[in-house]
Amino acid sequence: MDICNAFPDMCYIVSDKGTLIEANQKGLAVINGLHESPVSLPFSFFLTKNIRQYFEDNLKDVLSDDKTIRIEAEIEQLNKVPLSVELYLKALPLDINSSRKGCLVVARDISDRKRQELDLLRFTNLAQYTVNPIEITDPDGKIIYVNPAFERASGYPKEEVLGKNPNIFSSNKHPHGFWQKMWQTISAGKVWVGEVENKKRTGEPFFTQLLISPIVNNDRKVVGYFGIHRDLSDQKYLEQQLVHAQKMESIGMLAAGLAHEVGNPLASISSLVQVIQRTNDDEFTQEKLELIKSQITRISRIIRDLVDFSRRSTYEVQLTDINKVILDAIEIIKVSKKAKDISFNSALEDNLPLLPLVPDQIEQVFINLLLNATDALLDQAPGVPPYKGSKTINVSSTLMDDSLLIMIEDNGKGIRQEDLGKIFEPFYTTKKVGEGTGLGLWVSYGIIKSFRGEIRVKSIEGRGTTFTIRLPAQS
Ligand SMILES: Nc1ncnc2c1ncn2[C@@H]1O[C@H](COP(=O)(O)OP(=O)(O)OP(=O)(O)O)[C@@H](O)[C@H]1O
Ligand SMILES: [Mg+2]
Repeated sequence: MDICNAFPDMCYIVSDKGTLIEANQKGLAVINGLHESPVSLPFSFFLTKNIRQYFEDNLKDVLSDDKTIRIEAEIEQLNKVPLSVELYLKALPLDINSSRKGCLVVARDISDRKRQELDLLRFTNLAQYTVNPIEITDPDGKIIYVNPAFERASGYPKEEVLGKNPNIFSSNKHPHGFWQKMWQTISAGKVWVGEVENKKRTGEPFFTQLLISPIVNNDRKVVGYFGIHRDLSDQKYLEQQLVHAQKMESIGMLAAGLAHEVGNPLASISSLVQVIQRTNDDEFTQEKLELIKSQITRISRIIRDLVDFSRRSTYEVQLTDINKVILDAIEIIKVSKKAKDISFNSALEDNLPLLPLVPDQIEQVFINLLLNATDALLDQAPGVPPYKGSKTINVSSTLMDDSLLIMIEDNGKGIRQEDLGKIFEPFYTTKKVGEGTGLGLWVSYGIIKSFRGEIRVKSIEGRGTTFTIRLPAQS
């Protein structure tokens, strides 16, 4: 056995009964202290309990078949965690003269490898189940791993992103030097953190806080990059809502003042026109006065909308069956010539609670949303090929937790991401003069807010738009 002392591994010689006959210095050092006289004890005594029988069985096999067997095991150690080892078992004659066989057991320390395996397993589990999107790239920036949260958040299945550069998610919203600075930081081996706006597969924005850290090997060489995201969409949405609500409030005040200031002189112009009409017979003058009257009517309508928005409390609130209002609104829209090629589908949940609303106002909201959807189905987005399928508007209502959700969905021309923030502003319209004043959504927003509700929009250009209205269902 002396010769075995030069071995880097632990070596043991075991009898055909499984007792320890001899060990090299390394082998003895490991089991030292477990028993006063280790020699002549069964070798399996030094292994952890769960593996003892397995070792005995393999020993029998080795002695009968003359083969080499490799098993993984753990050797007990005094006052230390058991040592993970790989055991190689090989039968050998115990002495030259007799045919008595024994077994050489070589034990190789694999605790480092086991620890790494465990670390990897822990990381894989963490990455698999965390809600944080994770991406890993090679040193050239090619994606080599994304976790399920990343697939969910970005909308890309992993097959589509592996091997690509993360700039496929780029929204092009960041200034030129932004990503350059990030690369400088991480390729210098430092951690970079920043708020980023990326683009989902659908084209929608994806706001996250991103931390990128270089992965460095034992030789301090960068072998890849690790990126972890924290979703900021909800936070961004709330921030935008707050800004929006404040803007709406100030516009509301301005509109009320403006309506008053314009309304009064307009009323006097209108009565003056009537006076002249009554006192003048000239045909030309009469014709022009008619024109003035129709323009005054148009201005009055806009002013009425503005006043409606800012002075809504005079209407009477009643317990309202929302499904009935939706169906009435659909009927009204259906009769118009514009809607003749459009199919309307409604999926309305039965037995919804009645809500304290002003039915006429809520109907006005639905009519406006349905009219907008109709217009979007008849028009087409510039540069985007027209949709080939049938023109459809889907309306649904459901009760979810303490809220009633109403969705109005069309497969029309959609709204560009950069315009989504503007559509609730007064006088924002993409329609021709005379076809839209851009007050519809502004008024709708005000009405829904006044009932402590919320109106949200999601849209993909060229594919369609969905408006979701949430109304609190508790009285
Ligand atoms: N379903 C939709 N699909 C595509 N674009 C829409 C949709 N709904 C609204 N929009 C866009 O939002 C703009 C504002 O809508 P809003 O209802 O406030 O005004 P309008 O329809 O243009 O005019 P008004 O409703 O005052 O007659 C529209 O001009 C259109 O560009
Ligand atoms: Mg409208």
